[in-house]
Amino acid sequence: MADEMTDQLPDDAPQLSADQVAELEQIACTVARASGDLIVDERPDHLGVAATKSTATDIVTEMDKRSEELLRNRLATARPGDGLLGEEGASRESETGITWVVDPIDGTVNYLYQLPAYAVSVAACVGDVHTPGAWRTVAGAVCNPKTDELFHAGLGRGAFLEHAGRSIALAVTAQDDLALSLVATGFGYDVDKRKWQAGIAAELLGHVRDIRRAGSAAIDLCSVAAGRLDGFYEAGLNPWDLAAGWLVVTEAGGVVQGPAGGAPCADLVVAGGPAHVAQLAPLVDR
Ligand code: IPD
Ligand code: CA
Repeated sequence: MADEMTDQLPDDAPQLSADQVAELEQIACTVARASGDLIVDERPDHLGVAATKSTATDIVTEMDKRSEELLRNRLATARPGDGLLGEEGASRESETGITWVVDPIDGTVNYLYQLPAYAVSVAACVGDVHTPGAWRTVAGAVCNPKTDELFHAGLGRGAFLEHAGRSIALAVTAQDDLALSLVATGFGYDVDKRKWQAGIAAELLGHVRDIRRAGSAAIDLCSVAAGRLDGFYEAGLNPWDLAAGWLVVTEAGGVVQGPAGGAPCADLVVAGGPAHVAQLAPLVDR
């Protein structure tokens, strides 16, 4: 792999050849698609809320759990020594230096309401995924099974969208005028936090073309990579929300950063083309 790419990786990251990255990307695609099929094909007619997490609106359905179980089993079979971190509690220490960071359904509220903006996100990461800023994604895939779209990337291999039998290379927009930019964001589940987030969004509305809130951070990031949005920002994301989409954006020529231009983390994620992020970040980095 080229030096400028491995420079971005944590010091203790395993050395990966281009073929190994390609293999991880292929596995990410295969398992994300399998879980995507599962959550559509086996969704019960009367899907209920199986549990709640941080608040009464932060929900888990039985299909989140089944999707994570499928991901856990498939990844353990394909890559037995790798670690795992999943939104619904899957956890395994890595023996290889690779940890899979998975979101079995990103956009669970959309899934509950049958809005077609939800996805399975699967990422192969290096470094310590439990420590903000200490990990990076080397391969990832985001599958929206309702639109039949599979976004994927491998470090140094570019970002692509598979749809209707075609593979389309992705590129972020070249938008450099903030006033003309379309920006997505998201809100957390905690009421006080979302009031604070709403204040930042209200202020930003006066500086941009418009704001979108689709309900899946993984899809938002892939939409930036596909040039469907100029940018995205959100505070409060977890590693599983952003791990795959982060690499899809950077391999599409974009920037993904956190507070003060550091690594994206729970405090802040800002994504877009380089010129756009340079203008957006100062307005949302508070
Ligand atoms: C949520 C979605 C949403 C974002 C929230 C996330 P979930 O993930 O990505 O767009 O705004 O911060 O928690 O709960 O649907 O997996
Ligand atoms: Ca999520």
